[in-house]
Amino acid sequence: MICVEHLSRHFGEGTDEVRAVDDLSFRVGPGEVYGLLGANGAGKTTTLRMIMGLLVPTRGDVEILGRYVTRHPEGIKRQIGLVSASAGLYQWLTPREILLFFAGGYGLSRVQAAARVETLSRLMDLHRFLDRRSATLSTGQKQRVNLARALVHDPPVVLLDEPTRGLDVVGSQVVFQFVKALREAGKAIVVCTHQLDEAERLCDRFGLLHRGQMRYEGTLAELREQTGRNSIVDMFVDLLQEPAAVRSIPA
Ligand SMILES: Nc1ncnc2c1ncn2[C@@H]1O[C@H](COP(=O)(O)OP(=O)(O)OP(=O)(O)O)[C@@H](O)[C@H]1O
Ligand SMILES: [Mg+2]
Repeated sequence: MICVEHLSRHFGEGTDEVRAVDDLSFRVGPGEVYGLLGANGAGKTTTLRMIMGLLVPTRGDVEILGRYVTRHPEGIKRQIGLVSASAGLYQWLTPREILLFFAGGYGLSRVQAAARVETLSRLMDLHRFLDRRSATLSTGQKQRVNLARALVHDPPVVLLDEPTRGLDVVGSQVVFQFVKALREAGKAIVVCTHQLDEAERLCDRFGLLHRGQMRYEGTLAELREQTGRNSIVDMFVDLLQEPAAVRSIPA
C-alpha cells in the first residue's frame, strides 16, 4: 500500500551538502506495522515528510494506493494520518472543537463528524476531557487528542513520528495498544521511535536507517540473521561505531 521508491533528499550544496535521505526504498502492506528506526538525524522525519507530500524529494517518489505523491500531493494527504510528537493543539479550543474542525476540513457532514468524534473518544478514552480547553490538558492527554486528530478522516495509511515522546509508561502503552488496533483495522503503518524495545515487540518488519541509508531491513529474525546481533539496540551500537565516510577536501 505504501511504496517508497529510491527516495532521496539532499539539503545544502557543495561541501555543505547533507544527504538526509539517500536512495531509500521500502514497502508497507495493509495490516502491517513497519518500524523505521534510526539514531538522531538518520533521516526518519525527512522520509515521513516526503511520504506525506510536505517536502519534495530530490529524487525518487512514493506511491500510495496507485498514486504518486509528487504528482497528486493533495489527493495523497487525504489517504494519510500523520501523528507527530511536536504537533501543537489550539490551546484555546477544546478537543471536541478541534476534532470537529478537522473533520469539517475533510468534508465530513456535521452528523458524520459528531459520530466520528464519538468513535474516536471511545477508542482513545477522551470523554473526561473532551470539553476542556486544550491548554489545561496533560502531555499524555494532548497526545491522545493528537492521535485522534490525525485519524479523524479514517485514513488507510498512518505515519507516527515518535508518538510516545514525553509520555510515561502507561501513556506509551496506550499509544502502542492503539497502533495494534490500527493494524487490526488493516491500516498500513509506519512508526519512528527511539523506544527500541517497544518497537521490537510491536513492529512486523523494520528498516534500520543510518545516515540516510537503509542498512538492514526485515523481520526481527531476519535482522538477527543479517547482523549476528540479538537486539536492535546492539545493531545500532555497531552501526554508530562505524567511522563516518571520509570526505575529500578540495585542495
Ligand atoms: N530543512 C532542513 N534543512 C537542512 N537540513 C535538514 C533539514 N531537515 C533535516 N535536515 C537534516 O537532515 C538530517 C536528517 O534529519 P531528520 O529530521 O530526518 O532526522 P531524524 O531521523 O528524524 O532524527 P531525530 O531522531 O532526531 O528526529 C539531519 O542531519 C538534519 O539536520
Ligand atoms: Mg525526527
